[in-house]
Amino acid sequence: MYVLGIETSCDETSCGVVRGRHLCSLVTRSSLPAHRQFGGVVPEIATRAHVRVIDRVCAAAIEDWGGSLNQLSAIAATVRPGLIGSLVVGVNFAKALALALRKPFIGVNHLHAHLFAPFINAPEPPEFPFLGIVVSGGHTDIYRVDDFDRIQLLGGTVDDACGEVYDKVARTFGLGYPGGPVIDRLFDPAEKNAFQFKCGRSGLEVSFSGIKTALVYAHREYADRGGLDQKTVVRLMSSFQESLVSTLVEVLREAVRRSGLSTVVCGGGVTANRYLRTRLKECASEFKAVLPPMEYTADNAAGVAGLGFYLYNEKNYVSPLSLEAESRG
Ligand code: KG4
Ligand code: ZN
Repeated sequence: MYVLGIETSCDETSCGVVRGRHLCSLVTRSSLPAHRQFGGVVPEIATRAHVRVIDRVCAAAIEDWGGSLNQLSAIAATVRPGLIGSLVVGVNFAKALALALRKPFIGVNHLHAHLFAPFINAPEPPEFPFLGIVVSGGHTDIYRVDDFDRIQLLGGTVDDACGEVYDKVARTFGLGYPGGPVIDRLFDPAEKNAFQFKCGRSGLEVSFSGIKTALVYAHREYADRGGLDQKTVVRLMSSFQESLVSTLVEVLREAVRRSGLSTVVCGGGVTANRYLRTRLKECASEFKAVLPPMEYTADNAAGVAGLGFYLYNEKNYVSPLSLEAESRG
């Protein structure tokens, strides 16, 4: 039994085939270079790019797998949340394939697919129940996962998503887009306490808008004085990242304390951050952080296909063709 997964929620057009948790093929094309000059993803450009390449990306994934469309048992696609124009391309492509091949269509939640990434090809996948955290450009959510059809939101950001703040701060400092990887590279542990920035946290809720504003002010202050040299940028970015990462670790500690669960499955683009990964591994005496392999941190179809397979095979889950793409989660 094989399932094809399709992911088009943002700027990546991605198709992959799985057999259970085993990934048979994965092909991803990103329109990121076309968005860079705008400092963020431009929805119209992303939608058009998906339309241009989706058939070729799908054909390449099928070819790499070495099977044929007729051998697929089901077609899974991300239906929400994301950019609506982008989602519509993948969802309708998947529905058309399902209809033509007379195979079931399985609509998948993008955030749950991020949580499935650490299960792909894992020799010993995490056992239910566990805590989940998705840290991406659009979300910072903490979940209790009793199974992939029983996921409860426990907390997360009350304003900006973590990745969004990385991107906005990087843009303020003219560091390019996306900001997360740039700040990751600039980070110097020796400078992480050079400035004292604070994120908000109350229980399982976090707030990142205040630190974003603090960094905008810091930029203005140094730029006005002509003192924004490379060393100062490194000190500011290192202190900024220290506060973001410490807040994520703290809120997870709190979620572990409250839930009594000691496994935390992590997903989303920000989990590529080297300092976050180090800090999470250091929490080993309190909880086990299960991190996705680096190649599955960003948006891709591996988790979509894997989760689609799981829901279809274990839960007899099939979506009606009337299920529509939704921008909200
Ligand atoms: O999950 P993702 O690929 O797309 C969404 O679903 O949003 O996440 C993209 C986000 C961007 O905000 C990007 O800056 C951030 O992930 N990101 C990182 C790193 N790599 C990507 N943030 C911090 N450190 C990184 N190394
Ligand atoms: Zn994502």
